[in-house]
Amino acid sequence: MLSDKTIAIVKSTVPLLAEAGTVVTEHFYNRMFSHNPELQDIFNMANQRSGRQQFALFNALAAYAQNIDNLAVLKEALARINHKHASMHILPEHYPIVGGHLIGTLKELIPAQFTPEVEYAWREAYALLADICITEEAALYAHSKNNHGGWSGTRQFIIAKKQAESELVTSFTLVPVDGKAVITHKPGQYLGIKVKPTDAQYSEIRQYSISQQSNGENYRISVKKELVPAAGIVSNYLHSLDEGSVVELYPPAGDFFLRANNKPVVLISAGVGQTPMLAMLQTLLSDTTNQTVTYLHACENTQQHSFSQFLVEQAAAHTRLNHYTWFNQGGEEAEFTGLMNVSAVAKQLPLGEGDFYICGPTGFMAAIKQQLLALDVDAARIHYEVFGPHQDI
Ligand SMILES: Cc1cc2nc3c(=O)[nH]c(=O)nc-3n(C[C@H](O)[C@H](O)[C@H](O)COP(=O)(O)OP(=O)(O)OC[C@H]3O[C@@H](n4cnc5c(N)ncnc54)[C@H](O)[C@@H]3O)c2cc1C
Ligand code: HEM
Repeated sequence: MLSDKTIAIVKSTVPLLAEAGTVVTEHFYNRMFSHNPELQDIFNMANQRSGRQQFALFNALAAYAQNIDNLAVLKEALARINHKHASMHILPEHYPIVGGHLIGTLKELIPAQFTPEVEYAWREAYALLADICITEEAALYAHSKNNHGGWSGTRQFIIAKKQAESELVTSFTLVPVDGKAVITHKPGQYLGIKVKPTDAQYSEIRQYSISQQSNGENYRISVKKELVPAAGIVSNYLHSLDEGSVVELYPPAGDFFLRANNKPVVLISAGVGQTPMLAMLQTLLSDTTNQTVTYLHACENTQQHSFSQFLVEQAAAHTRLNHYTWFNQGGEEAEFTGLMNVSAVAKQLPLGEGDFYICGPTGFMAAIKQQLLALDVDAARIHYEVFGPHQDI
């Protein structure tokens, strides 16, 4: 428990953090990576360069300081962080390193305001937050290790099959080298994959949503090639690997998954955002309920339309599945042309009771959320996944 005094001091420093802006987190990362260069093997250095992770950490710290007397409001945000941390095997011993650099940063950047009294309050507050994270992450690690097919840290998997799904996306079926079972994942969850691409300075960890339902034997991920020059460190490296190559995986994690509540479900994706939807779709269609499933997907053109054959087959086999596709560039096969417009199929959707799951670029997800809200879908029934550090939409 924090004292009233500590709470008051930490809350009073929120404006200081806001004024310093991302300068604080930039300084923090520079400091941490120069003192602890080994952490560059854990952090996504491309996110560092693009500033996306700086923004995420800064937001988390500001939200924490702001809500220090009511941490319940941060429950969801913390769960998301804990799952992301678990997918990279962040351990208790990492917390004092990060905490030390955080305090050091504030001391160096705002020495006049960061008095010994303020420092003491921040140390106490950080220790509490670290404890919460360590406890939650320990529970996730225990689950991954102690359940059938589970493991701790990295485990070697062989690329048993590579399957081109479209012009940009290729699926990889990953089978454990030890030939044993793999732990069940919830449909929508992702894997942390650790590789050291040829010529790369550091090991790299990235998350990829599992693109099939759980089968106890293997996982499948479907990866989009990055076309931005000098980017695509991991995705393009994976595309370059042959069947038979070995990669390292952390156990499944993630708080974006299908709720088992027997309600009708609407899955909405754009581009490679299809991947968690496929796991959800397969799971839904193999369950014993008779709930309707609607799948709306948007993609650039037919060449970039992954899993089209699979969807046609599923719709033929299951009358409770309806699916609609928007092709931005139109074309002969286009059912809908241009950007996705949910109201075009609104009559077919369970607007008043269904659960809506969205995955795709953040601009796409924000637009779809607005469309759903305009159709009176309750915000609490809209769930989404960002393929990068989380952003509110
Ligand atoms: C929960 C989750 C699930 C995901 N699931 C999938 C999935 O199923 N399939 C999939 O394909 N991807 C998925 N991703 C994304 C994936 O983790 C990677 O982010 C993606 O493959 C790109 O990684 P990379 O190493 O290939 O590219 P990176 O080299 O990391 O580059 C990524 C982006 O960073 C930016 N960037 C890189 N270098 C610079 C620079 N110097 N300056 C400015 N900007 C730069 C560019 O915008 C570039 O496009 C998921 C991500 C998350 C968080
Ligand atoms: C209490 C302290 C911490 C807070 C508040 C915090 C907060 C965050 C947040 C908000 C994210 C982004 C989550 C998302 O993807 O949406 C994140 C990701 C991450 N965190 Fe932490 N974190 C803490 C401690 C640590 C520690 C101790 C480490 C280990 C060195 C660590 C390593 C990482 C890494 C590697 C990522 C992913 C970054 C990326 O891939 O770009 N964090 N954290």
